[in-house]
Amino acid sequence: MPGSAPAASNPEAVLPVIPTALVEVDVVERWGEGIPAAVPVAEIDGEPDLDTAAENLGVDTASLRALDVSGKAGEVRAVPLSEGRLGWAVGVGDGEPFRWRTAGGELARAIRARIGDTGGEGADPRDLGEALDVEYVQFRLPAAATPELVSALTLGVALGEYHFRVSARPTPPRVRKVLLVAQPGEDVTRLRETARRAREWASATSVARDLANAPSNIKSPAWLAETAAAMTGSVTGLNATVRDEKWLSGQGFGGVLAVGGGSSRPPRLLELTWQGSGGDDSGVGHVVLVGKGITFDTGGVSLKPAEGMEMMRTDMAGGGAVIGAMLAIARLELPFRVTALVPMAENHISGSAYRPGDVVRHYDGTTTEVANTDAEGRMVMADALGYAVHHHQPDLIVDVATLTGAMKVALGLRTGGVFSNDEKLGERVRDAGRRAGENWWPMPLSEDHATDVRGTTADVKQAAQGPGALMAALFLREFTGGSPWAHLDIAGPARADKPYDEVVAGATGFAARTLVEFVAGLGD
Ligand code: BES
Ligand code: MN
Ligand code: ZN
Repeated sequence: MPGSAPAASNPEAVLPVIPTALVEVDVVERWGEGIPAAVPVAEIDGEPDLDTAAENLGVDTASLRALDVSGKAGEVRAVPLSEGRLGWAVGVGDGEPFRWRTAGGELARAIRARIGDTGGEGADPRDLGEALDVEYVQFRLPAAATPELVSALTLGVALGEYHFRVSARPTPPRVRKVLLVAQPGEDVTRLRETARRAREWASATSVARDLANAPSNIKSPAWLAETAAAMTGSVTGLNATVRDEKWLSGQGFGGVLAVGGGSSRPPRLLELTWQGSGGDDSGVGHVVLVGKGITFDTGGVSLKPAEGMEMMRTDMAGGGAVIGAMLAIARLELPFRVTALVPMAENHISGSAYRPGDVVRHYDGTTTEVANTDAEGRMVMADALGYAVHHHQPDLIVDVATLTGAMKVALGLRTGGVFSNDEKLGERVRDAGRRAGENWWPMPLSEDHATDVRGTTADVKQAAQGPGALMAALFLREFTGGSPWAHLDIAGPARADKPYDEVVAGATGFAARTLVEFVAGLGD
């Protein structure tokens, strides 16, 4: 076609489909004949309860024994059923709620492997010849299933086979829905409500994954802001405003403009507001969530090493978590007033990039002397925190950021760090994480280092010597105006290198559902 760019250079040719559809999960009362079936296998005193599992599947115990079914949490064995129906025996170990998340994740991947990806590694993805057409799988819940169990299982099943795809080729078939079948006499209404909440947690997580997985040739600050605004725009009561570079300049967002200055794709600020009917009487007040939205982090003039740099497309994972959380907060109609701020910029390198030694003036007037252009996250967060404090008069602030490599070294890939100037607030975040199935660990805002962030030529030092994650947190604290504040550094758990539990390799969506459950619990 005349005038149209060749596919290779046309960004439209690699547009991801967002949001990714998840496997649906619901609780039902009736076991269906003829539907592919999965059953849990519990370990009792270290031995698998094969009799119960066999009875539920309609096979004999000996056949499960022959398949070496151990009941270990996350072990999934395919069990052939009558008339060629698919069946699975799913180990749940000692049955602790979190084991059900492990079991659900492994089951979801086993189902996908059986009916979806027929090819396996190296196969032609267009060859879907042998794929099975399976719409439903049913899963037998145990007697006296608790809401915690159903919640964990729902998360595992919904998120465990998440797969981010950018392809014009046909999507492999997948199961549409997993039905959790309650035992007779159970309170199905209550379990169904639990599953609904867990589904919203899962979709918050999934949106955060989608945005972080999106490649940065597509994901400019403008694309990220508009994509988020388009998604949130369809939810009643959730309002999105996208601010451009002219607005940012007029308002004095010096940190965002400095970091974004090296890129040909200018920065943005996304503002989402949820009024939450009844929020004003709750005594909770106005909650502001802030998320780091660096769409790609080259390090700038303080350039990062090439190895592993590709993962810096996920450097807006904190912003993605905040966006995903706001969607769920609104869909669940949580009765609190919540504002989200996501400063978005690409930290790139060019003749217009900011430099080490520069002095930058932030939204609240504080000046920062730049030491390392790779410490860009705190530069954009400082503006957003200052704007939150002075424009929104928050009663509490929670920020989320892939802020420091040091945090990743300290806590690894499965745990996020929580810093807070308010003991109770930090505890609330960690408790919410426990309920939502995410691990957090308390980190100190050590006063011993607090004076080190004071500047010499400017008010504050951007990257002072000292323990990296703490120095970054102490820097951010300078912009919080004494508001109750929690800072969540997710540099480690925002990404995974291999699948486990409900997580798959790539962006994890970590923190999204902790934020949802944190806000949900504010009235308690
Ligand atoms: N985005 C990085 C932090 C990061 C590192 C996230 C590894 C995920 C994995 C951040 O912008 C950064 O580069 N931080 C520097 C700060 C330093 C220059 C003071 C770091 O941690 O090395
Ligand atoms: Mn950086
Ligand atoms: Zn960064």
